[in-house]
Amino acid sequence: MKASGFSSKNPAPSFERAGLELEVRPAKVSDIAHIFDIQAQAGRSLPDATTLTPAIDDDARLVVVAFARGTSGVGDVVGWGKTHYWDHPDGPASEGRYLGGVAVRPDYRRSGVGTALTQARLDWIWRRTSEAWYVVNASNLVSIELHRRWGFVEVARASGSHTTTFDDGVGILMRAARPTIPK
Ligand SMILES: CC(C)(COP(=O)(O)OP(=O)(O)OC[C@H]1O[C@@H](n2cnc3c(N)ncnc32)[C@H](O)[C@@H]1OP(=O)(O)O)[C@@H](O)C(=O)NCCC(=O)NCCS
Repeated sequence: MKASGFSSKNPAPSFERAGLELEVRPAKVSDIAHIFDIQAQAGRSLPDATTLTPAIDDDARLVVVAFARGTSGVGDVVGWGKTHYWDHPDGPASEGRYLGGVAVRPDYRRSGVGTALTQARLDWIWRRTSEAWYVVNASNLVSIELHRRWGFVEVARASGSHTTTFDDGVGILMRAARPTIPK
């Protein structure tokens, strides 16, 4: 356990796109109600609040929210995402750091929020290891498209991976390598 806060988890700075001032910051326990609302609006299963609080408080994982402020100056939590750490492999799915889900409120999609949440989580992962993983429903073409820019490549297909099962029975295990800094 540790104190949470922007400086301790140090995710991404602000992003500006589509007239939105967007800040990605580590989630606080007080954000959980917003996270539930985003999941419900996205038609996704609700996370278990009893596992979300420990994830927020765990230095080995990162839970982030995107806070957007429009031209009116009023702000709201419009997206969230998390990472997961597996300490053991499951078939082709290595132990290691995984992107553990991302969702954006439908009325804020296609404005770079999902990208900002994913960049923040990957920056955090790259500071710890050179490899990132994620699993996705094979039918979730939007998610696959979202992750393409970081060079995720398919490693395997299966009906499940670690504790994840897939909506349509087929999921894809993806892996990306930390970008090298040009000399
Ligand atoms: C997937 C999701 C998080 C994307 O969020 P977003 O804020 O709309 O994503 P961005 O605006 O950053 O889009 C980044 C890129 O993803 C791709 N993308 C996003 N939405 C897309 C769509 N509807 N159709 C095709 N490509 C899409 C595009 O390549 C886009 O880049 P571009 O806008 O420059 O073309 C959002 O659609 C969502 O919450 N979906 C439901 C939950 C979900 O499926 N999560 C993924 C679980 S693994």
